[in-house]
This record gives sequence, structure tokens and C-alpha cells, in this order.
Amino acid sequence: MRVVFLGPPGSGKGTQAQILAQKLGIPQVSTGDLLREAVSDNTPTGRKAKVYMDKGELVPDSIVIALVRERIKDEHQFILDGFPRNVQQAEKLDELLDQMKLPLNSVMNIEVPLPKLVERLSGRLTCSQCNAIFHVQYNPPKREGICDVCGGQLYQRSDDTEAAITQRFETYKKQTEPVITYYKEKGTLINVDGTRTIEEISRDIEEKMREHV
Ligand code: AP5
Repeated sequence: MRVVFLGPPGSGKGTQAQILAQKLGIPQVSTGDLLREAVSDNTPTGRKAKVYMDKGELVPDSIVIALVRERIKDEHQFILDGFPRNVQQAEKLDELLDQMKLPLNSVMNIEVPLPKLVERLSGRLTCSQCNAIFHVQYNPPKREGICDVCGGQLYQRSDDTEAAITQRFETYKKQTEPVITYYKEKGTLINVDGTRTIEEISRDIEEKMREHV
């Protein structure tokens, strides 16, 4: 099973990718998480990426593609969350999968209107150890500030500032929306109404995947 999760910032890609990955027992490959790990480890890649991430811009393709290639090279099944983010990355992914002789099964496009996205991003909490995602109101942790999954400390992402959020939305419109058309033309796109509860969306994704396979 190879699935891509697409959607604007805060649409719930990470949340749904984590749920599905756990259900299927396959890895969730989040380029945002991979980049944040590189930043927190202060690697040369992390230092370069941080400049773009703090501004809400896309990190150069060469960096992201190298990270993805390295992460999936020995995997047969995975869920890509946050990759591809532009048409060049989508073409590169096709090339990588062709070389691996593995087709992409489906692309889940999570649709949520802008006002809801801002509300979700401003209340998000992320685990500093295992990257589990919570929300102060919609998915609160059982103990304040502590991850339910691993007991790690929860934090607010540094790119969830008003300026970076506005830029992330613009970047999404300009660079990521064309990826929706790319996959629609290939027949792999599945639209998902992302305005419902986390559980309802997750059930819907599973049903849609069953119908599609
Ligand atoms: P990335 O980490 O991918 O951020 P993003 O795309 O902006 O998406 P988010 O992680 O903000 O949102 P999400 O859709 O995963 O929502 P979530 O599940 O957390 O990328 C960060 C940066 O890294 C980019 O700006 C860029 O610089 C760089 N980058 C990453 N990938 C790149 C690439 N391929 N190329 C170049 N650069 C790249 O949910 C949000 C909140 O809502 C949470 O609090 C959650 O609990 C809550 N929530 C989720 N679902 C629901 C629901 N149904 N109802 C109510 N609340 C909900």
C-alpha cells in the first residue's frame, strides 16, 4: 500500500496519516517531521531548511527529495504526508516509484475551508518525542502538556505564527494546488471532506481506500 496525503496546512494530513499508518502497520513518512528532526539535530540540512520553514516557504526540492529517497528506499509500503508539494516533486516521486517498480495506490486530498484551518493550527500541540498530534479543543491530551502515546512534552510549532501561517497558505495555493490536478488527471485522486470529526474522516478514508483498491 502506497498512499499520499494532500491538503492545505492544518487540514489534518498528519493526523489522518498517523491513524492510517498505525491501522495498516506501515510507516508514515512526513517530510515536515523529517525536516523538523534535521532542524532539531542541527544538521547542515536542518540549518538550511529552517530558513524556509520559519518563513512558511517550501524547502528546496533537492533537499526534500533526497530525504524522501533515503527514507523510502528500503520500504515497500508507506504513507507520504506532506510530499509531494509541487508538480516537480510529484514527477520525481513517479520516477522513484517506477525505479522501485511500485505503483502509487491512492492520493487522499483532504478539503477544509480557510477559517477552520486557522482555528486548527492555532490550537495544535505536537509531541516533541514521537510527533503525535493533538489539539487543545478538538483532540486534547489526557494530561495537559503530556503526550498520550509516549509521555513526551507537547509543544507549539514555531511555524504556527500568524505570518508563517499566511505564507504557508499562499505557498499551498500557488505550488501545491496544481498537484491536485496532476493526480486527478492520473485517476488516483480521492477527495475527502475534512470538516468532520477526526474519527468520521478516518472511517471515510478507510472506506474510500477499500473501494479504490
Ligand atoms: P508540514 O509539517 O507538512 O506542515 P503543513 O503542510 O503546513 O501541514 P501541517 O502539519 O501544518 O498540517 P496537517 O495538515 O498535517 O494538520 P494536522 O494533522 O497537524 O510542513 C512544514 C514546513 O516544512 C513547510 O511549510 C515547508 O517549509 C516544509 N516542508 C514540508 N514538506 C515539504 C515538501 N514536500 N517540500 C518542501 N518543503 C516542505 O492537524 C492540525 C490541527 O488540527 C491539529 O491540532 C489536529 O489535532 C487538528 N485536527 C486534525 N483533524 C481535525 C478534525 N477533523 N477536526 C478538528 N481538529 C482536527
